[in-house]
Amino acid sequence: MDAPKEIFLKDYKSPDYYFDTVDLKFSLGEEKTIVASKITVFPRVEGSSSPLDLNGVDLKLILIKVNGKELKEGDYYLDSRHLTLPSPPSGKFTLEIVNEIQPQKNTSLEGLYKSSGNFCTQCEAEGFRKITFYQDRPDIMAKYTCHIEADKSLYPVLLSNGNLIEQGDLEGGKHYAVWEDPFKKPCYLFALVAGQLESRDDIFVTRSGRQVSLRIWTLAQDVPKTAHAMYSLKAAMKWDEDVFGLEYDLDLFNIVAVPDFNMGAMENKSLNIFNSRLVLASPETASDADYAAILGVIGHEYFHNWTGNRVTCRDWFQLSLKEGLTVFRDQEFSSDMGSRTVKRIADVSRLRNYQFPQDAGPMAHPVRPHSYIKMDNFYTVTVYQKGAEVVRMYKTLLGTQGFRKGMNLYFKRHDRQAVTCEDFFAAMRDANDAEFANFLHWYSQAGTPVVKVTSSYNANAHTFSLKFSQEVPPTPGQPVKEPMFIPVAVGLLDSSGKDMHLSSVYHYGTLQSFVSNSQPVLSTVLRLTKKEEEFVFCDIFERPIPSLLRGYSAPIRLESDLSDSDLFFLLAHDSDEFNRWEAGQLLARKLMLSLVADFQQNKPLALNPKFVQGLRSILSDRSLDKEFIAKAITLPAEGEIMDMMEVADPDAVHAVRTFIRKELASQLKSEFLSTVQNNRSSKEYVFDHLNMARRALKNVALAYLASLEDPEITELALHEYNTATNMTDQFAALAAIAQKPGKTRDDVLADFCSKWQHDYLVVNKWFALQAMSDIPGNVENVHNLLNHPAFDLRNPNKVYSLIGGFCGSPVNFHAKDGSGYKFLGEIVLQLDKLNPRVASRMVSAFSRWRRFDESRQKLAKAQLEMIMSANGLSENVFEIASKSLA
Ligand code: PHE
Ligand code: ZN
Repeated sequence: MDAPKEIFLKDYKSPDYYFDTVDLKFSLGEEKTIVASKITVFPRVEGSSSPLDLNGVDLKLILIKVNGKELKEGDYYLDSRHLTLPSPPSGKFTLEIVNEIQPQKNTSLEGLYKSSGNFCTQCEAEGFRKITFYQDRPDIMAKYTCHIEADKSLYPVLLSNGNLIEQGDLEGGKHYAVWEDPFKKPCYLFALVAGQLESRDDIFVTRSGRQVSLRIWTLAQDVPKTAHAMYSLKAAMKWDEDVFGLEYDLDLFNIVAVPDFNMGAMENKSLNIFNSRLVLASPETASDADYAAILGVIGHEYFHNWTGNRVTCRDWFQLSLKEGLTVFRDQEFSSDMGSRTVKRIADVSRLRNYQFPQDAGPMAHPVRPHSYIKMDNFYTVTVYQKGAEVVRMYKTLLGTQGFRKGMNLYFKRHDRQAVTCEDFFAAMRDANDAEFANFLHWYSQAGTPVVKVTSSYNANAHTFSLKFSQEVPPTPGQPVKEPMFIPVAVGLLDSSGKDMHLSSVYHYGTLQSFVSNSQPVLSTVLRLTKKEEEFVFCDIFERPIPSLLRGYSAPIRLESDLSDSDLFFLLAHDSDEFNRWEAGQLLARKLMLSLVADFQQNKPLALNPKFVQGLRSILSDRSLDKEFIAKAITLPAEGEIMDMMEVADPDAVHAVRTFIRKELASQLKSEFLSTVQNNRSSKEYVFDHLNMARRALKNVALAYLASLEDPEITELALHEYNTATNMTDQFAALAAIAQKPGKTRDDVLADFCSKWQHDYLVVNKWFALQAMSDIPGNVENVHNLLNHPAFDLRNPNKVYSLIGGFCGSPVNFHAKDGSGYKFLGEIVLQLDKLNPRVASRMVSAFSRWRRFDESRQKLAKAQLEMIMSANGLSENVFEIASKSLA
């Protein structure tokens, strides 16, 4: 292998040639597929004569013509990755290429491949080069037609982007279809699907009165499971019109569900391709979490039609331009469809549990990375989730209307263009005449800023001061950072727990006053821009309790001087519901960290009664939303606590979390029991917030109870399992029972498997549940499951469930004897031969090895070194493994 090459943002150059139109012709066959392309090419600068460099990987070149004339060897150069024309004609010309590919053998699931006998494509980021020779980069935007030819009985359905303009039968049992996409697009948005599929059809009438045909395609037996996906699609189309004034721009929108897919889903123009787990749902087989994920991802891919497709990225470093923005949009959509607070809590938890650790480890990179070896490795929680937080900050700073003005200007300026993150920033700024100081650092500096805040009340001057200091920790390649622009939303609570009316705030010689004759100001957004600064609130007549970073207004770690009693007060009274939850989490984190210290010093563990009392009062507060209660009584995850320790100690954290759960279960047993009894589901499954909230609360209570060694509870859990009428309740009961090793666990797991063996999506849940289990010595069980007839290393969902699930279990993956590490090391090498993208996602589990004690470090490092020494390692795995060792 050539040494993998690193690609840098600073080296970006405009292409020397653009493509205007692309005509593709596919002859799909059982052994091989022939691809013919005809491209009209024109130089960026008239009269230039630079070489034209095309990407091409795993392609067999059959023919190449320029302006109708066949090129001979010597007229072009071909290596394993490129086809180069050293001196193309000057001016506009046509390029025709014929090549051969073998989709049947493509296990990477990039380019054209087969899934359950059907053909489908995945081109983002750089999969198009596995289909034909092309300038495979997003700033090459062209108009496509796609002609597909295939056996009619094997592949009755033939789909591509845009509109169907022609179809018909051919000799020899074949047929064809011709699709034309009127919008120019980068090749990563190209898609083709051919196979035996059936559709659920519906219609959406846009607000300007256009009828759009909607079709969701699946294997025939799965069509009944697409109702929720269709509902989600129509809701998303309506929402984008209502909230952003954005209408769909074609007469047809297709979604295809495929069982073999590396990621969640793909926004190909008018032909979205989805991992079937994010389309198929029925109450019996899918949980509330699946229903919610489907809603969010259908929305996400649909929203890409404007944020991603109509306006796309200039280069892959700008990925967050489309992903951060589109994640933000799908988060807002889900909030509007359900509970805003609960959605915010879920999103912030995810950021803390996955993105914070990435930002503090060897793979830390800015929202807009400066370099990559393999772009596939940068579809990360940083680009997606932190990127969405960056977009959210614009909205926090500009308000709903200001943000909308910025979006409007963005589309007005950049429709049908390939642009950069600065272009988005400029649209937001210019539409609002805003002063954004050093906001752009959010795109270029990695690491989670740490903000410290201390408060003081001056009873004589009636002022309340907040002093902030900020520090962005060093990350690979970025030892020193500039201060960031951090919006901190703040409210002040009086002694009765009400928001004080804010009159003015003093900041370095300027007094900002909030006097408005209409509404009292109860919350304000402070703008931090310096390493240290002070804000002074005036006319404050008693010592307030500050509610800081309301709604989590910036993706930072906030360290405040609030006391436990302040936090209990906020937990009970804050008008910002997110901060109520946050206060509870802060208390829980403090508690967990101090118990971890006790555990490490062999001190007996004891639970602070005030904490139990706090949770008891939340649990019995009838004014609260039930899903909020479910979240508020859930302890921070083990990863979140490990992330806060000097040396991560998985055993101690696990022991402490288990101890607290058990202690709460025994002290709040009667409350939990009545919670279960009073929140059982109605017979009919309804996917709405009220019903989901009941199920969530009931199942959290059941999970607590099941941590007790108590036959009465085992009976209860079995009862819940046997009487469940939907997957949410059935699976929650199974998970509750599976907490404790023993015969009941084995029996129920076996029962579940035999009940659902015909449904691979449910079987994946069964794999994941066992893989994540913290029962001692679980690695052996997981090892055995690799040989289960339903397991297949070639299917990403199965790998994510079983291998990914296992890596998420702190105790077993990080087992002291290194068995978990060894298991993963072996699997990564096997996977890398089949599917590098999936392999590199798995190898990432090693990346934080330095966070652990010396003996674990040695064991994990040995596996990384073993991987690095393997022959023929993919660039994907090479990048993650080598950066982890660096
Ligand atoms: N662009 C897809 C999204 O919506 C993600 C994806 C990337 C899918 C690469 C497949 C391959 O977020
Ligand atoms: Zn996306």
